[in-house]
Amino acid sequence: MPVTAITNIKQLVNVRDQYHLLRGRELSVLPCLENAFLVLENGLIKSYGPMDEFEQHNPGDGEEVDASGQLVLPAWCDSHTHLVFAASREEEFVDKIKGLSYAEIAARGGGILNSARKLAEASEHDLLQSAKARLNELIQLGTGAIEIKSGYGLSTEGELKMLRVIKQLKQLSPIPVKATFLGAHTYPPAFKENHQGYIDLLINEMLPVIAEEQLADYIDVFCENGFFSPEETETICRAGMALGLKPKIHANQLNLSGGTQTGVKLGALSVDHLETMDEDAIQTLAASGTIGTLLPSAAFFLRMPFQPARQLIDAGCAIALASDFNPGSSPSGNMNLVVSMSCIQMKMLPEEAINAATLNGAYAMELEDELGSITVGKKANLIITRPVPSLAYLPYAFGSNLIDKVLVQGEIV
Ligand code: NIG
Ligand code: FE
Repeated sequence: MPVTAITNIKQLVNVRDQYHLLRGRELSVLPCLENAFLVLENGLIKSYGPMDEFEQHNPGDGEEVDASGQLVLPAWCDSHTHLVFAASREEEFVDKIKGLSYAEIAARGGGILNSARKLAEASEHDLLQSAKARLNELIQLGTGAIEIKSGYGLSTEGELKMLRVIKQLKQLSPIPVKATFLGAHTYPPAFKENHQGYIDLLINEMLPVIAEEQLADYIDVFCENGFFSPEETETICRAGMALGLKPKIHANQLNLSGGTQTGVKLGALSVDHLETMDEDAIQTLAASGTIGTLLPSAAFFLRMPFQPARQLIDAGCAIALASDFNPGSSPSGNMNLVVSMSCIQMKMLPEEAINAATLNGAYAMELEDELGSITVGKKANLIITRPVPSLAYLPYAFGSNLIDKVLVQGEIV
């Protein structure tokens, strides 16, 4: 039965009649309504207001949820994941504990190539089943929209297999799913010395099928020393752009690789990671319309310095937060932890982190008219917390499950 009203809400979080992409100081403004009600209809937000006006709003037949002492938030918008993969990689995790670096593991054929070998052996059916199970777990953790990348195929067959799985997830999923083509994740062994050969394959063999079958919304490239150079990134992105795919690129993770400047030059929707930034990269991003998507759980898992969120926000950047869920560098898609880590390790204020993980995350998937805030007409994808003393308690009490209920299109999941 659909929920038609939530009443006695201690705090209704991120309430906006109007909205825009938040940058710089705007990120710290999180509009909330105390002692509020929320009325839902047909899976959408119909109205909201202070409790003493609830009687004037007549919810239809359905369940009424009393949220005394509880907060209601828009569900998390996770704009960067690699949710489809064939197998976990905890053996590499142990190797790293013993002292090997991410780059050393990659050089031994581990890392992305390890996932690519396993993906080549997996059936579309098995990939879909495992991805569905992960997606369901994330929905329970409050994720209400998600982006998913290919990039473990690294062959025409493998990339198309991954993208077809993502397309099926789009059809099955109760939450919106966006698909990104990341064929340029690394060079497969056969093309290690023949970069142009692989770029030709991406552009001439994979992209035409992807466009024809409408398998992707975005194009991504891992712009990094030892992976794809800024020039290669630009060539690949421009080929995708000619087919209507906007770039969302992996930039400045391990080195000052020029990915941010390349993304801005291309008008990318987002540049993601940003662990390694200098003044030029920060100022270039701040002066652009490109969103900087921070992935703190990848920095945490790889024991890297966290993204310089304070410098980015103080410079006026538009910041989103995402999980980077993948078997190599972030084997968790828990956005509650991402929000906590952002406050604890990157000194983001709770208000900034929640805005970055909801409204700005929605912008980073072009879903801002459907999700990311409590706005009349947006989807009723919502988190109802357990009773908590305050908003700041959410990132503060890291690791506790503070979610009481998750609603997707007005239904409790
Ligand atoms: O976003 N940086 C590149 N890609 C992934 C990691 C991929 C992997 O190790 O499987 C990331 O961190
Ligand atoms: Fe990633």
